[in-house]
Amino acid sequence: MTQPAILVARAVFPETLERLSQHFQVESNQSDESWSKEEFTARLQGKAGVFTTGSERIDAELLAACPDLRICANMAVGYNNFDVEAMSARGVLATNAPDVLTETTADFGFALLMATARRISESEHFLRAGKWRKWSYDMFAGGEVHGSTLGIIGMGRIGQGVARRGAHGFGMNVIYHNRSRLTPELEAECKARYVSKEELLKTADHVVLVVPYTPASHHTIGAAELALMKPSATLINIARGGIVDDAALAVALREKRIAAAGLDVFEGEPQVHPDLLTVPNVVLTPHIASATVPTRRAMADLAADNLIGYLVHGKPKTPLNPE
Ligand code: DGY
Repeated sequence: MTQPAILVARAVFPETLERLSQHFQVESNQSDESWSKEEFTARLQGKAGVFTTGSERIDAELLAACPDLRICANMAVGYNNFDVEAMSARGVLATNAPDVLTETTADFGFALLMATARRISESEHFLRAGKWRKWSYDMFAGGEVHGSTLGIIGMGRIGQGVARRGAHGFGMNVIYHNRSRLTPELEAECKARYVSKEELLKTADHVVLVVPYTPASHHTIGAAELALMKPSATLINIARGGIVDDAALAVALREKRIAAAGLDVFEGEPQVHPDLLTVPNVVLTPHIASATVPTRRAMADLAADNLIGYLVHGKPKTPLNPE
């Protein structure tokens, strides 16, 4: 029997390709550069499945041009690159990679929070530039982390991981805002109290964003929300670019309307708003919150499991739009 043909849209672990090759005829992108939309569409012809990484847009136009496509497996928990409605309308299965990156991403959220509050990047640049001459009482004095108020917007699995670290590890007072409240049991486990978005912004010392990107969450944090935050507060975004209005944030940082920000994701990434690159009080990382070797392997394995599960055995592991 002929094996189904699949496309792997970006470079992945050689072991993943090897495993996929045992089940499929695999065409893969080895260059680690994204294909243009035209090239991606052309290469998808005759393919039953595609392994995506979160950067490739799957929309109605692409689906109409690729009638053989049956499954798109994202190696990411976020799937704002998928038009799931258009995929369902065409009977194309969408899968993502939840759970396997939860704790790693929560770790990174905390790392970014600490680096931001304790001014680690800024002070390292200062030292490397040879500017350190003496100890001084207020040199790079930042905000407190332990015992402070941690405000989490978006209390899914990763948000809960951030809450647990804050409450249990750093004795923080955790407040959260979410579309729906957690069960009393989960609230107790995370030691987290539900508040309105306005109260959270007004009272948190550190605001961490962990909401999925949808039209409804576009610019969840803009000029008006930044104006509600304390001048001593920090803002951390480990969710998606587009949730924060980066231009408004750059103004708030420059004018010290908030103390600092830590950003792993950006509107229009890999481009970064030029004003963010010129303000000192922001820690910038290139979308690496889930980037540990074991976690990236687990994400790749899960995307491969979904392709094999669906195309070979008719049973995907983590479907987003099951029939
Ligand atoms: C995800 O899984 O959504 C992360 O942002 C990595 O892309």
